[in-house]
Amino acid sequence: MKTIITGAGGLVGGALSRRLADSGHGVLALRRADLDVTDAAAAARVIREERPSLVVNCTVLGVDECERDPEAAHAVNVEAPRSLAAACAEAGAAFLHFSTNYVFDGEGEKRYAEEDEPRPASVYGRTKAEGERAALGANPRCAVVRTSWVFGAGGRNFLSAAHRELLAGRRVRAIIDTWASATYVEDLAARVEELLSRRARGLFHVVNEGVCTYEEFAREASLLAGLDGREAATLIETLTEAEMHRPAPRPRYTPLRSPAAERLGLAPLRQWRAALADYIRNDAR
Ligand SMILES: NC(=O)c1ccc[n+]([C@@H]2O[C@H](COP(=O)([O-])OP(=O)(O)OC[C@H]3O[C@@H](n4cnc5c(N)ncnc54)[C@H](OP(=O)(O)O)[C@@H]3O)[C@@H](O)[C@H]2O)c1
Repeated sequence: MKTIITGAGGLVGGALSRRLADSGHGVLALRRADLDVTDAAAAARVIREERPSLVVNCTVLGVDECERDPEAAHAVNVEAPRSLAAACAEAGAAFLHFSTNYVFDGEGEKRYAEEDEPRPASVYGRTKAEGERAALGANPRCAVVRTSWVFGAGGRNFLSAAHRELLAGRRVRAIIDTWASATYVEDLAARVEELLSRRARGLFHVVNEGVCTYEEFAREASLLAGLDGREAATLIETLTEAEMHRPAPRPRYTPLRSPAAERLGLAPLRQWRAALADYIRNDAR
């Protein structure tokens, strides 16, 4: 099975490229330098010439970048998935795209299911929600995987780096008042592979079980990395989301659950603490 992965230089794209190649897909991993997905003609040409049976789009414009540049957000997060999905439909290929828990406003105290109505509160959330609809509307063989707070090898975010920073004796700033599901990128890639093998279509939530704040995540990372409670207390600086003064608002409470995966007979993924233990063990090798 020939598979094109766009955004292969990123956290999810990198892990998925490795995973699918290991399972025998012929993977063409395209980084930004190989294909700018906002160039619809170039993207369509690659798909026509390479004739893949599947394209997986892992490109994204990040949360704060979207707030600073809504036009670029629309190009990468809406128009690119729309044109990729359409080019795939024309070439007879399936399309898989990623989205986010930030399509929800997080104002309640519940875990969101696929059927819950998106109500995004940032440019990122709005463009990701629109991108989901665009992709699903342009290709009947399309799956959209919403995930949340992803961590793993190659990640440049707080969750991926916390244990390393703490081990090196550096302070980390951990937010105490936003809650979400965390997701180990290797578990995400494995579940995506299961969805692909079932030819799943439509919307799926893929996250590790459990709910945490960044602070709880950092504390767990410090324990797993072997720090004692006192060291952790000095190195983990706690603050509120408002105190971060970030350009884009973050939703307060957006854990996900997946009735859609249950309907396919897929069990929930393991707890995030077990997944984090695995990540930290693998990272130390
Ligand atoms: N990471 C998370 O916590 C998280 C949470 C929820 C959902 N997701 C979703 O998961 C998916 C993958 O995210 P990720 O965490 O892997 O992001 P990432 O690490 O930032 O990777 C995104 C990749 O897209 C590339 N890219 C951006 N604009 C492009 C363009 N115009 N043409 C080609 N490539 C372009 C970036 O290249 P440069 O590095 O050169 O800019 C980067 O390599 C996204 O759909 C995201 O919404 C992620």
